[in-house]
Amino acid sequence: MPIIAPSFLASDFLHLADEVAMVNESDAEWLHLDVMDGRFVPNISFGLPVIEAIRTATNKVCDVHLMIEEPGKYAEAFKNAGADNLCVHIEACPHLHRNLQQIKSLGMRAGIAVNPHTPISLLSDIIHEADLVNLMSVNPGFGGQQFIPYTLEKIKQLRRLIDERKPGVLIEIDGGVTLDNAAEIVAAGANVLVAGNTVFKAKDPKAVIRKLRDI
Ligand code: DX5
Ligand code: ZN
Repeated sequence: MPIIAPSFLASDFLHLADEVAMVNESDAEWLHLDVMDGRFVPNISFGLPVIEAIRTATNKVCDVHLMIEEPGKYAEAFKNAGADNLCVHIEACPHLHRNLQQIKSLGMRAGIAVNPHTPISLLSDIIHEADLVNLMSVNPGFGGQQFIPYTLEKIKQLRRLIDERKPGVLIEIDGGVTLDNAAEIVAAGANVLVAGNTVFKAKDPKAVIRKLRDI
């Protein structure tokens, strides 16, 4: 059964407390929180104070996806804001090994996020330092985009690499996950499904979360 991580980028920011309460009552285990800086990605979302507020309202895992340059400067601040998982982009980190060490030493799960065009082979000498890989199935920056089909092939490659090098590393798929494609994503080897629009724009978000989990 996959872990479901509703992405708050698609939530109603005017009623954030209700949205968090909905996820608290649901079968989702993680809350996915997308931080964008307008430099690494061409969009700006929300940051530390919003995550800090959400943290006070939930005991679930706060899964923070940093789409920012120089994430090392802010790792401690995100820990203090309440992050349990911190994912940094391989494309933004020339010293990724150092970034992962820092995140783990702060007591968080260390995640590597990977853009759609970045080959899985680039992870072969760093995967043993990770707890989690966020495999992007859209170009990061915006919610509500279409799943890029080639991602399925990358999930299979990553599953092979992880089974060989460090079993237990979680594979998280982020972008364009729907009730229609979730089954093949899980069959390819994913452990965590991020879902923004599919969950928050649904009439019955808790029912959708349950369906994704039971897929
Ligand atoms: C995109 C973000 C995703 C996004 C997913 O840059 O990393 O987490 O919120 O949204 P959906 O599920 O709507 O594609
Ligand atoms: Zn994300």
